[in-house]
Amino acid sequence: MYSSRKGSLIAIEGIDGAGKTTTAKILVEKLRELGFEAEYTYEPFSSPFSGALKKYIEEFGEVEPEIEALAMALDRLFHVKKVIEPLLKKGVIVITDRYVYSSIAYQGAKGADIDWIKIVNRYAVEADLVIYLRVPLEIALERMKRKESKWKYFEDINRLKKVLEIYESLVYQGLMIPIDASRSIDEVVNDCLNLILVKVIKPKI
Ligand code: TYD
Repeated sequence: MYSSRKGSLIAIEGIDGAGKTTTAKILVEKLRELGFEAEYTYEPFSSPFSGALKKYIEEFGEVEPEIEALAMALDRLFHVKKVIEPLLKKGVIVITDRYVYSSIAYQGAKGADIDWIKIVNRYAVEADLVIYLRVPLEIALERMKRKESKWKYFEDINRLKKVLEIYESLVYQGLMIPIDASRSIDEVVNDCLNLILVKVIKPKI
């Protein structure tokens, strides 16, 4: 069978409506069925910092991209220190629903400097694999209509187009592996699972 060296961190990225949450949760189940210890987690995480960001938006209506990027980076560092690193130390395969590239794509789309976003996220442990669920904007919008998000303010169409462009540039740079997420959930999950088994979990020899 397979063995996981230590823990592994796998990030699932994509625009809203790409199916990240469903895919990530099923992946965890499949990995467990294969005998691995796997855990699902997500960002924005439930930290004091994402709480502060929500309050800020309630009070001021809008948030400046740089303030938002810093709040997300703090939220992420909390997530890394309190959840991700302890799980990795225990040898768990951690599947995170969004990670650093969400900040690059979303806060970058709002105008925050991308190199600076990378700097403030420097202490977020590097993912072993980043999977990009690629979906055309129209399909994502159609799927989003069916789901109530806690973060509605993010989902502006023009903004999402820009987010999509930044994500595609990250794929182009070889930083994320794209999976066609316009297909059925079974096909998407299968492709993701194969990627994880081939790229992250080395077969025991
Ligand atoms: P999402 O995964 O849709 O969360 P939920 O399922 O709770 O609605 O993420 C919420 C929004 O947060 C999404 O529009 C992207 C945005 N976001 C950022 O702008 N920057 C970040 O760093 C992260 C992690 C998320």
